[in-house]
Amino acid sequence: MKIYIAPVPRPIKTEGLVILVDILRATSTITSALAHEAILVKPVDTIEEALLFKEQGYLLMGERNGLPPEGFDLGNSPREVRSVKGHKVVISTTNGTRALSFIQRAKVVIAACFLNLSAVVTFAKRFEEVFILCAGSEGEVALEDFFFAGKLAQNFPGFQALNDTALIAYDYARHIENIEKNLWQAHHAKALKALGLGDDVSLCARVDLYPIIPILTNDGFVPLRGHSE
Ligand code: MLT
Repeated sequence: MKIYIAPVPRPIKTEGLVILVDILRATSTITSALAHEAILVKPVDTIEEALLFKEQGYLLMGERNGLPPEGFDLGNSPREVRSVKGHKVVISTTNGTRALSFIQRAKVVIAACFLNLSAVVTFAKRFEEVFILCAGSEGEVALEDFFFAGKLAQNFPGFQALNDTALIAYDYARHIENIEKNLWQAHHAKALKALGLGDDVSLCARVDLYPIIPILTNDGFVPLRGHSE
């Protein structure tokens, strides 16, 4: 499989698969919300845009500076998803949802995190070319996204790097066994802890808790469940 890793958002055109990664916390939260039976999770760029959906009965999730914006129902937390069952959800976050606007063309777009790692690997194996789009942090590389991208790459058969970032991430991830310990080194993990949201970091480090794949449609992310080879 040919793998390209964008360590920060950049314009993407591919006939293959794009995998969005924002471990802390957007893709972990999107995956968790769908696992807890949200009908769909619609990513939007701005708070103003999100608020318009409130009138249509959507639940609003998201963050700015780590905390829920005024008028939102829930934060961007994978621990806050119990109430989403049976609801349509709108999500707006600082980096994760915005990264999607860089995708100019793709056959399929999915969201990935440690929580659905094996399901994503199984699904992705049918594509020859895979772009891993890391959300990063305001234009900077985020350790947790880069690390996860390397872990994903390691799980793909016949790994071939399409850029040097893919080679470096692959090599970096190879030497790390303890996922949670690694996440705690990340700048954003420390920032979340300072906000009293450290439990989110521990949850985002768990592997294969939810065997579902959020797949992007015109309405937002919807779940593909129980995906097999
Ligand atoms: C983001 O999109 O920047 C993040 O998911 C931020 C966060 O949840 O704290």
